[in-house]
Amino acid sequence: EGEGVDALEAAEVRFTRFFNSSPMAIAALNDTGLVVRANPAFAKMFGQAAASGSVAIAEGLRDESREALRHALAAASRNQAGIPSVDAELTGENPRSVRLYVSADVSDGTGDSAILYGVDITDQRALEDQFAKSQKMQAIGNLAGGIAHDFNNVLTIITASVDFLLLNHRTGDPSFQDLLLIKQSANRAASLVRQLLAYSRRQTMRPKMLSLTDVIADMHLLLKRISGDLVKLERHHARDLWPVMADIGQFEQVITNLVQNARDAMVEGGTITIATRNVPEAELKGLGYGEMNEGDFVLVEVSDTGSGMPDEVAERIFEPFFTTKEIGKGTGLGLSMVYGIVKQSGGFIFVDSVMGKGTTFSIFLPRHTPSEAAMAKIEAGPTVVSPKADLSGTASILLVEDEDHVRAGNVRALKMRGYEVHEASSGVEALEVMEELGGKIDLVVSDVVMPEMDGPTLLREMRKTRPEMKFIFVSGYAEDAFAKNLPEGSKFGFLAKPFSLRDLAIAVKEMLDE
Ligand SMILES: Nc1ncnc2c1ncn2[C@@H]1O[C@H](COP(=O)(O)OP(=O)(O)OP(=O)(O)O)[C@@H](O)[C@H]1O
Ligand SMILES: [Mg+2]
Repeated sequence: EGEGVDALEAAEVRFTRFFNSSPMAIAALNDTGLVVRANPAFAKMFGQAAASGSVAIAEGLRDESREALRHALAAASRNQAGIPSVDAELTGENPRSVRLYVSADVSDGTGDSAILYGVDITDQRALEDQFAKSQKMQAIGNLAGGIAHDFNNVLTIITASVDFLLLNHRTGDPSFQDLLLIKQSANRAASLVRQLLAYSRRQTMRPKMLSLTDVIADMHLLLKRISGDLVKLERHHARDLWPVMADIGQFEQVITNLVQNARDAMVEGGTITIATRNVPEAELKGLGYGEMNEGDFVLVEVSDTGSGMPDEVAERIFEPFFTTKEIGKGTGLGLSMVYGIVKQSGGFIFVDSVMGKGTTFSIFLPRHTPSEAAMAKIEAGPTVVSPKADLSGTASILLVEDEDHVRAGNVRALKMRGYEVHEASSGVEALEVMEELGGKIDLVVSDVVMPEMDGPTLLREMRKTRPEMKFIFVSGYAEDAFAKNLPEGSKFGFLAKPFSLRDLAIAVKEMLDE
């Protein structure tokens, strides 16, 4: 008989060990919903008061979750099987999401009526949310980017035609004012399109190695002008900031937009602080941004002491056209562009806002470790064409572009400057023209996206027989988007759409002089 008791004790000890060490919260409830027995994981999740049965479990839940739990417990008291689990939000200092499973406790005379199991799903939830959000941003980005790209082509035609008309109409001409208006409007449209392209990460990027401290210091006057007299502008730069690879013009737009928003959030005045510092990989975990987990980063923070924003707003600020400003005051594209630029630079952006206290935007850009060759190139500096430079030439140019109007405008611009211009409306035709002329072409200017044979394929084909042929690509897409379709180390020039006729002339001249 003694053996039977021992076995029973051993089983109980074993059971107690399972119960106590389970990572799942487990509790037995009586028919009033109070806890009769609970394991340590339960006490940790719901607090000691609930675990000891002195307060109802529902006390620790957010209102929306209480009703669902009540239903589940009622079902358990009816001995119902297969009760659906309940996802609930715990209140308290450190809010958690939990999934609760309720099952009826087949009466064993103990008076328990239900057993509750709980699993913490906070991290999983955060991951799901993040995933859903980035999918949504991507979908909107694709749509916006597609429209913007087509629009860009239309604008290129308008801009080129107006440029050309303006050359033949002097200030006194009756049409001059109208032409100027068309040009200004086209420029405005181009700037909207650029913001959309930036958001959808299809903007042309020319990344260079930058010290953000220098870039921000150089912007000081501009930023002062934007922030106005009521707002104090402060800067804190950590020493020896690591370099990053970024497009300087675009990074300036990021800062400008954040400062503009900060100013708008502080109508009565306040302080904008721009701070930079290095964030080594070891520090990332402690920051609690799950998406970022490896690599060294440079952090730029733009903080204001303004209105702050509620969570519903903070969740949507990066969506294109989301604005809380009056019609005519904001387009809602500022932060979309910021987001796209940061993402395209391989970085991350986070917002932290407290109503009535202020807002901080944190931008993390990956640290860049330059090679020695790259260092040497930076020392040498870029060549710049002065505004008065002679942009004429006599070289022979082959222009490849499938949009007739765009091509016609570009042909005209180059002929005017003395060049001999040949045209082709596709890659295939370009190869034919090249053969007809026996290769007597100094430079090919080609669109990237064309039917039949695209620009990169054309370059590869041409260089098979003429490896030294000079090439300029014209595109509304980012340079690196198609550079990867080319043999490594291929040399070519690049011109971003939309461009003015002057931009084209400069690019051609630079390439021919190389
Ligand atoms: N620093 C800030 N403080 C409080 N709210 C902000 C801040 N920055 C942005 N917001 C909110 O985010 C919204 C979206 O900002 P975003 O820059 O994308 O567009 P916008 O400023 O409204 O218009 P746009 O920049 O195109 O002129 C703003 O309308 C505002 O509600
Ligand atoms: Mg803005």
